[in-house]
Amino acid sequence: MGWMSWERYLCNIDCQTYPESCISEGLFKRMGDLLVSEGYADAGYVQVNIDDCWSTLERDPETDDIMPDPDRFPSGIKSLAKYMHDKDLKLGLYSDIGTKTCGGYVGMQDHLEQDANLFASWDIDMLKVDGCYQDPSMMWDTYPELSRALNATGRPIVYSCSWPAYLDPDYGEANDAEVLKELAEICNLWRNWDDIQDSWASVSSIIDFWKRNNTEDPFVNVAGPGHWNDPDMLMIGNNGLSLSEERSQMALWSVFAAPLLMSNNLAEVSEESKAILLNKEIIAVDQDPMGKQGTLVFAQNNGEYLAPEGSHSVWARELHDGSYAVVLQNSWDMGDFVKISFRPEMIGWEVDAKFEVRDLFLHEDLGAFEGEFLADVNPSDVEMFIVKKAQ
Ligand code: DGJ
Repeated sequence: MGWMSWERYLCNIDCQTYPESCISEGLFKRMGDLLVSEGYADAGYVQVNIDDCWSTLERDPETDDIMPDPDRFPSGIKSLAKYMHDKDLKLGLYSDIGTKTCGGYVGMQDHLEQDANLFASWDIDMLKVDGCYQDPSMMWDTYPELSRALNATGRPIVYSCSWPAYLDPDYGEANDAEVLKELAEICNLWRNWDDIQDSWASVSSIIDFWKRNNTEDPFVNVAGPGHWNDPDMLMIGNNGLSLSEERSQMALWSVFAAPLLMSNNLAEVSEESKAILLNKEIIAVDQDPMGKQGTLVFAQNNGEYLAPEGSHSVWARELHDGSYAVVLQNSWDMGDFVKISFRPEMIGWEVDAKFEVRDLFLHEDLGAFEGEFLADVNPSDVEMFIVKKAQ
C-alpha cells in the first residue's frame, strides 16, 4: 500500500512551469510528508513510488550506471530513500526490462545484475519493472533473470513486473496461464492489463477484465501472499470519478486482493474521498492474511427494465476467519437504485443458512438474516458487507 506518481504526474519534467508537480525529489518528499501527516501511513499506505522519467537519458559515461536527473534529483536516490526511511516509509523505484523506459529513459536490458546491485545499494524497497522496448519473447529469460539478481543482492525489494501487460500487441487479453504461473514464482505483483486513467470508463474496463477472467484458472488462484494480480493504481481523490465510482474502486480492489497504490495529489483529496481511502474495515479486507483473491459469484439484471445482463453483480472474497467480504455492485449507469440480493448458496453455504451482516461503509452491524440479504444499490455504486455464519 502506498502512493505512486504515474497516473497523476506522468512524465512532467518541466520544473520551471510546474515546480510543484514535476517529477522531482521535492514531489516525492511532499507526498511522503502528506502520507504521514494526513494519516495515510497509519492506515498502511507506506510506499512512495517513483515511476518513469526520474533518470537521465543516457547512462553515466564513466561507470555505465543509470543516474538520477541531477537537476530534479540533486540529492540522489539513496538520500531520498533515507528521507522516507526516517519517516518509517518505503521508497519504490521504476525501471524497464528493455533498452529504454516507455518515456524514453535508460532501461535495464543487458545490465540486469549491475542495475539490481546499484538499486539495492541505494536502499530502495520496491522496484516496478516496465516492459517497453523489449520483444516480449525475451521476457521468459529477462524477468526471471532480474528476479534472481534482485534476490542475490540480499536486500528485500518488492518486485513488480509488467510482463503480462505486454503479451498482446494490442495490450489486450494477457491472461496467459503459463506466464501467470511463472510470475507467481518470480515476481511479487504484476500488472495484468491496461494502464488506468482518471475516468470511470477506464476503471470499469479494468473491472470488466477481472470479470471476464473470473473463472479462469490460474488467474484467480495464482494470487496469494507475496504474489498478486495488480489492476493498477487507485484513482480515488482525483478529478475523474464520482463518489459512487470511488467507492466501487475501493471495494472491488479490496475483493481483488489488489495492491492499493494511490496516484493523486495528497494535498487536495476531499474529506469524502479521504474517508473512502482510509476505510479501515475495507483495507482489512484488502490486506486479509489468507490472501485469497475474491471472485464474481453471481451476475444478472434481476429483470430490471433496460438493465444490461450481468449489471447487478455479487462479488465475494473468503477471509481468514471463515467470513466473507461481499460487494453488491450495480454497474449500470442509469436509473434509480436497484435491489441486489445476496444468498448464502452464492458462496457455497446452505440455502437456508443463517448469517450476520456488517456494513463496511456505515461501520454498522445490520443483524442476522436467513436465506437472503437485500441491499439498495445506486447506479455505478456498490455496497460492501462482511457476512459470517450466525452461531
Ligand atoms: C506503462 C505502465 O503500464 C505505466 O504504469 C507507467 O509506468 C508508464 N508505462 C510509464 O512510462
